[in-house]
Parts: sequence; structure tokens; C-alpha cells
Amino acid sequence: MPELKPFISLIRRGEVVAFPTETVYGLGADAMNPAAVQKVFEIKGRPSDNPLIVHISDTKQLDQLVDTLPNEAYPLMKEFWPGPLTLVLNKKNQVPDLITAGLQTVAIRMPDHPLALEFISHTGPLVAPSANKSGRPSPTKASHVQNDLGTDFPVIDGGATHVGIESTVLDLTGATPSILRPGAVSRKQLESTLGVFVEESYFRPSVQPKSPGQKYSHYKPEANVHYGPVEEFKDGVLYLIVNPTSEDRKNIYRYDHDLEKLSRELYDRFRQADIQGYHTIHIEEIDPDEAINSGIFEALLNRILKASS
Ligand code: TXA
Ligand code: MG
Repeated sequence: MPELKPFISLIRRGEVVAFPTETVYGLGADAMNPAAVQKVFEIKGRPSDNPLIVHISDTKQLDQLVDTLPNEAYPLMKEFWPGPLTLVLNKKNQVPDLITAGLQTVAIRMPDHPLALEFISHTGPLVAPSANKSGRPSPTKASHVQNDLGTDFPVIDGGATHVGIESTVLDLTGATPSILRPGAVSRKQLESTLGVFVEESYFRPSVQPKSPGQKYSHYKPEANVHYGPVEEFKDGVLYLIVNPTSEDRKNIYRYDHDLEKLSRELYDRFRQADIQGYHTIHIEEIDPDEAINSGIFEALLNRILKASS
């Protein structure tokens, strides 16, 4: 376990530190210090109208962030925190407007990672967007963060992240709970915990985006991303193969129906394809009938389609 003390001091001095979560690495700063939060936007090159998620280590820290919780929040926190579920809630006045981009709501999650939980228990709530430069894939390794932000940038190294794609963002401020971004916690899991219908509002580009992040174009590798059946293997193409195959070439990665593994490795493969100069990344189409039993399918497909559009 890395020594956290120097990183805790940096946060207390209003500096920015990258830290691991179970989803992707976050770029952390003291949520109650607007000057520190401002630095996050600058380092990331993030537009100021795209709000940040606040990360907590203990539900007691919610007192600083929200006045009252909606009834739905309780079973969800019990079932999925710590974990890859972000809840959008009505914010307390004292939450800096900079975090929420002027919205009256704040996005909050408790990451399921021992280093993150230990870290935040000492620093208090931390804002943390994914620790990539805007327009790059989310980092799933400490080396990804340093590739984007420089080798001197302070990163708590927790190895490769376990989930690999960003958290589910669920809005609890409307009449119906609404998924603003799909993630490892699936709609089916949310519905079975809540016992009510849960909306998916991320496939409606014509509607005014409620999650400001929806309107920004997502990361696309230099390489073209193709999603579809694979007929033959060609050079210059990096293949991510979902169905079992006996083909054994250096440009083929086999996933044997393991969609969790594909999610975990997807952004690393994107970065790797660009470094190695592949002109195309071909991801083999996932059979939806088979995927129906996988909680992460929706989120994985969402990231693949965004990268390939
Ligand atoms: O897994 C994750 O969520 C990672 C790790 C580091 O925790 N964080 C992450 O942060 O993905 P970021 O900033 O890359 O994405 C946050 C998303 C954006 O789409 C943003 O628009 C949305 O959450 N969001 C934040 N606050 C919101 C709010 N008050 N209302 C609606 N959407 C909000
Ligand atoms: Mg991001």
C-alpha cells in the first residue's frame, strides 16, 4: 500500500492528486476549496459547464453536501455503496457552484477502492473527474495518468482499476429515477433494488442534455473503431474478439465472452492501439441474446458506440 501522507498534505494545501477508484483514476481536489476545484478544470482542460462528481468515504460526509435525501437514495446506498453508482441529488447551498456548474444538484459517489476510501477519510469529500486530459480515454492505470498529465504529476498508484469504465450516473431529482450515464450498475439491478421503473435518458441526443457531459464529444482513438462481425483477420488492425477463437496473432486479443474483462481493458487497448500505430480497432459484435445476462453490457456498448461514431 503506497504511503498516503504526502498526498493527503497536498490536498490539504489545495493541490490536485490523482487516485485510483474501482472504475477509473480520478483527478482529486478538496470539494470545499473552490480554488482547488478550479485547478482541476484547468489541469484537465475541462469546460466549466461540465460538473464534477464528489467522492465520499462515509455517508456522514453527505451532511456537508445535501440537506435531505430522497427515499430512493437509502436502499441504493445500502446496496451499491461503496461502488460504481453516482447519485445526482439536490445540493446544499454551501456546495461550491464551480463543482456543479451552477446546477442546483450535485453528483455523489462512494468509490469501492481501499486506497480511495482511506485517502478520502483523511481529506474529506473530493471532487474527481476522470484523470485524463479532456478528449483522451479515461485512465485505468497510473501510467495512463502520467502519459496525459506528465511524469511528475502526483498519482497514488493502485495498479490497474477493476471495472475499467466510468460509474453509472443516476438522477434522483426528477419524478422518475433516470440513468444519465450507463455503468457497471445496470438498470435491471437498480429496478430490482428500487422496485420501480428506471428511465434511461442517455440515448436521446435531441433532448436538452441534463447531464452536461452528454453534449461533449467523447474520446475517439486516432484509430477508427469498428464494431461488428469479424470475417477475416488483417494486418494493421487490432482485434478485440469476444467469441472463442483459436486464431493466435499478436494483433488479436481474445475475451471468450468475458465482457467484464473487455470493459476492464477497453481504454488501455485504445491507448495501446494509438501508440502502436494501428489504423483500426475492430471489436467483435456481442450477441445481444447472450449479453442480456451481463450487467455491464449496456455500459460497454455505450462506450464502444461513442468511440466508433
Ligand atoms: O467512475 C467515475 O464516475 C469516475 C471516477 C473517477 O469516479 N469519474 C468520472 O467523472 O467519470 P467525469 O467528470 O469524467 O464524469 C462525470 C459525469 C459527467 O457526465 C457529468 O456531466 C455528470 O457526471 N454530472 C456531474 N454532476 C452532475 C449533475 N449535477 N447533474 C447531472 N450530471 C452530472
Ligand atoms: Mg471523464
